[in-house]
Amino acid sequence: MDMGKKKVAVIGALNVDIGGRSSGPLVRGDSIPGRVGLTLGGVGWNIARNCALLGADTSFFSLLGRDEHEPSIRDESARYCVNIDGCRWVDETNNRYLYVCDEHGDMTAAVNDMGLCRQMDPAFAAGCLDRAASAGAVVVDANLPQETLRYLGGALRAPIVADGVSIVKSIRLRPILDKLAILKANLQEAEALTGRTGVEECIRALLDAGVKRVVISRGAEGVVCSDGGEIFPVNSVHTDVVDSTGAGDSMTAALTVGLVRDMDFADCAALGVTAAGITVANPGAVTAALAVLRP
Ligand SMILES: Nc1ncnc2c1ncn2[C@@H]1O[C@H](COP(=O)(O)OP(=O)(O)OP(=O)(O)O)[C@@H](O)[C@H]1O
Ligand SMILES: [Mg+2]
Repeated sequence: MDMGKKKVAVIGALNVDIGGRSSGPLVRGDSIPGRVGLTLGGVGWNIARNCALLGADTSFFSLLGRDEHEPSIRDESARYCVNIDGCRWVDETNNRYLYVCDEHGDMTAAVNDMGLCRQMDPAFAAGCLDRAASAGAVVVDANLPQETLRYLGGALRAPIVADGVSIVKSIRLRPILDKLAILKANLQEAEALTGRTGVEECIRALLDAGVKRVVISRGAEGVVCSDGGEIFPVNSVHTDVVDSTGAGDSMTAALTVGLVRDMDFADCAALGVTAAGITVANPGAVTAALAVLRP
């Protein structure tokens, strides 16, 4: 093991993503030829793999199912060097995320079946604390139940980084805002979380609620950030977009790695935007190309 590596722990979701992309316009109630693929994803798993690609010594904590995907999960964790010794395996199917994209690659509908996430209760989280204790930062994703987030907010001693995940799930972070070292949310998630409208209003509300560093992502427009000083934008990298899925997850990973590397907040934000730019310029939610940003 490289003792100089910074440690990151990620507590969150892994899903089996089953996705289809039609080759022509979708027709409701009919079947259209296209491509169907199966990959491992989930916000927590994406962030963990990205942290490892960025050079952090990364451990992932989740509840995993002993179904037909167990071999690929073990294989992928070895390939990306993400330690999964702290995961608990149960005789159930893994979380599944089913989505359909149109011929332009825009998602038209998705169904998520996150049964294992609901079982990641405070008792599960308590079992992660010993192994996560040596991490320089702990990432939590809003797929975790609210009582688990509340428990971790009180129990973790390391700086906590949170990802908003989705509009509906982001509000689960409300009770732990004052415990967060970094919050990365897109504008819609930040508006749901704060009940405010607009980037600056949301940032002020989140800082008032106790978040130390706020990063609001705006898709192609980049991010707007503040650590309590001035509110500043960082423009996105101008690039040909190949696949925008996972952009936000790579940004959360880069913000975390910047934090454990003791980088200035402005440099962390720049690293986040650079990582997200590389992710959208490559296929898949997680790209090995991120390794160019290793120190
Ligand atoms: N079209 C684009 N061109 C350049 N950069 C982009 C583009 N789309 C996204 N990004 C980069 O990715 C970052 C995160 O994207 P976004 O705001 O869509 O996050 P998100 O909604 O959390 O995404 P995700 O659904 O992947 O989690 C942006 O701040 C930007 O830096
Ligand atoms: Mg996101």
